[in-house]
Amino acid sequence: MPSLMVNDRPVEFRMDPQIPLLWALRDGANLTGTKYGCGTGDCGACMVLVDGAALRSCLISLAEAEGRSVTTIEGLSRDRSHPVQQALVAEQAIQCGFCTPGIAIAAAALLARNADPSDEDVKAAVPNLCRCGVYPRLVRAVQRAGRAMRGLERIAAAPAPGISPEDAGASVPALRAP
Ligand code: FES
Ligand code: FES
Repeated sequence: MPSLMVNDRPVEFRMDPQIPLLWALRDGANLTGTKYGCGTGDCGACMVLVDGAALRSCLISLAEAEGRSVTTIEGLSRDRSHPVQQALVAEQAIQCGFCTPGIAIAAAALLARNADPSDEDVKAAVPNLCRCGVYPRLVRAVQRAGRAMRGLERIAAAPAPGISPEDAGASVPALRAP
């Protein structure tokens, strides 16, 4: 049975070693933050860190990940405190959010080796497709996260996960009898 480190914990998968890592993470480990977009290596929605490199988990088999260290969006931080996550929120570089986990992973990998990326650096290292078209904001967010990592600015913490009862009440229109 393939075993690997997932978000700093040893995990043994009782699954077909030939299935894509993406499905092992989503269906076997219930880490559904990693998204399935195309399954053909084009969109980047499935990106995870494998030994620190951003890779498309739809293209890697579980067997190929054996013994390696995998970090998913859930492992980047559990409380949205990673500078990339905070900057994506602060720059409103999230619309529907489907592409966001893969983008955050690609951006984190870039900033780990270059915390002062140019526009072109970001575009090359974060090639993820976004159907909502957040690209200009995405570049700003990654560069802002880099500034935060270099201690040049502070980004206000992103809101905690979940919806407060007040927010839910405000956003759901009252039901009316027909
Ligand atoms: S689902 Fe893997 S690249 Fe699109
Ligand atoms: S925010 Fe919707 S696909 Fe990127």
